[in-house]
Amino acid sequence: MGIADFDRHPLTFGPSPIHPLRRLSAHLGGAQVWAKREDVSSGLAFGGNKTRKLEYIVPDVLASGADTLVSIGGYQSNHTRQVAAVAAHLGLQALLVQETWVDWPDPLNDRVGNIQLSRIMGADVRLDPHGFDIGIRSSWEDALREVEERGGKPYPIPAGASEHPLGGLGFAGWAHEVAQQEAELDVFFDTIVVCTVTGSTHAGMIAGFAELEAAGGRPRRVIGIDASATLDKTRDQVGRIARHTAGLLGLERDLRDDEITVLAGWAGDKYGIPVASTIEAIRLTGRLEGVIIDPVYEGKSMAGLVDLVSSREIPASSTVLYAHLGGQLALNAYTAVVP
Ligand SMILES: Cc1ncc(COP(=O)(O)O)c(C=O)c1O
Repeated sequence: MGIADFDRHPLTFGPSPIHPLRRLSAHLGGAQVWAKREDVSSGLAFGGNKTRKLEYIVPDVLASGADTLVSIGGYQSNHTRQVAAVAAHLGLQALLVQETWVDWPDPLNDRVGNIQLSRIMGADVRLDPHGFDIGIRSSWEDALREVEERGGKPYPIPAGASEHPLGGLGFAGWAHEVAQQEAELDVFFDTIVVCTVTGSTHAGMIAGFAELEAAGGRPRRVIGIDASATLDKTRDQVGRIARHTAGLLGLERDLRDDEITVLAGWAGDKYGIPVASTIEAIRLTGRLEGVIIDPVYEGKSMAGLVDLVSSREIPASSTVLYAHLGGQLALNAYTAVVP
């Protein structure tokens, strides 16, 4: 069993592009940094990392005969926006529980960016006062029940599509895609840097690269940068999903603890609140590369990359692949800190 044995419903244009970040690399003066761009890989409402995860979940949705995708996230969830887009694309309904994950005072936080797009795409958007938690939520279970009570057939997609049995497959596939692109570009990325919160993006990569290594590929480091500010929960979730996904792929060994690397230091105290290093990373990437990253996720992982490369914790001899997972629409709710 391997990744190619799982059904995939294409929602992206094809492999997401990889390109060097030459001016950023020169500025940092160490490792060579490249980016792989989930933010430009799909035509469905600006795409992002959840679209790739959903490619492996949609076959199960269609087989189930469900008429409503039910999912959950914060007000500015990129995930729920991608669920709304996929529902529209498939001719299904979407019921989205949008919780108060971030205590963010912007008066437009529940109206602009991701949530605006979900409404445009016809999703039934429910604002909910619960705070941040990456686990399974009662508000989401209530929403599932509600669809059933009105005679519909819900399909549950948990936060970030992470606690879904197939949630890690999308980024296991990403790892295979990277290996193919490396062969085409004649480059090898010994280090991957990825933002991690609900965990299945990072976990899928770990499982996918472990599968490639078992087939004779070179070893590499996959560094997750925590943006949840609930490090233990995220680390546990990454480990659990990585092991589950490796099992699905038929990896014939246990993943080692040292393969599950989630680093703290750039999330600040709370999920969704940018700190000084986040805002510096957003400006640096924008000014040097014309590449836009967001204040909730990618700004934090880029801040981690900048420090790890500058400090030579990632050696100067390395070639690093930064996973750009999308998320820029949330910038609309953060003009107070990124004017
Ligand atoms: C733009 C962006 N980057 C990173 C992440 C983190 O991915 P995951 O939740 O799979 O850890 C998310 C979603 O949570 C996201 O929307």
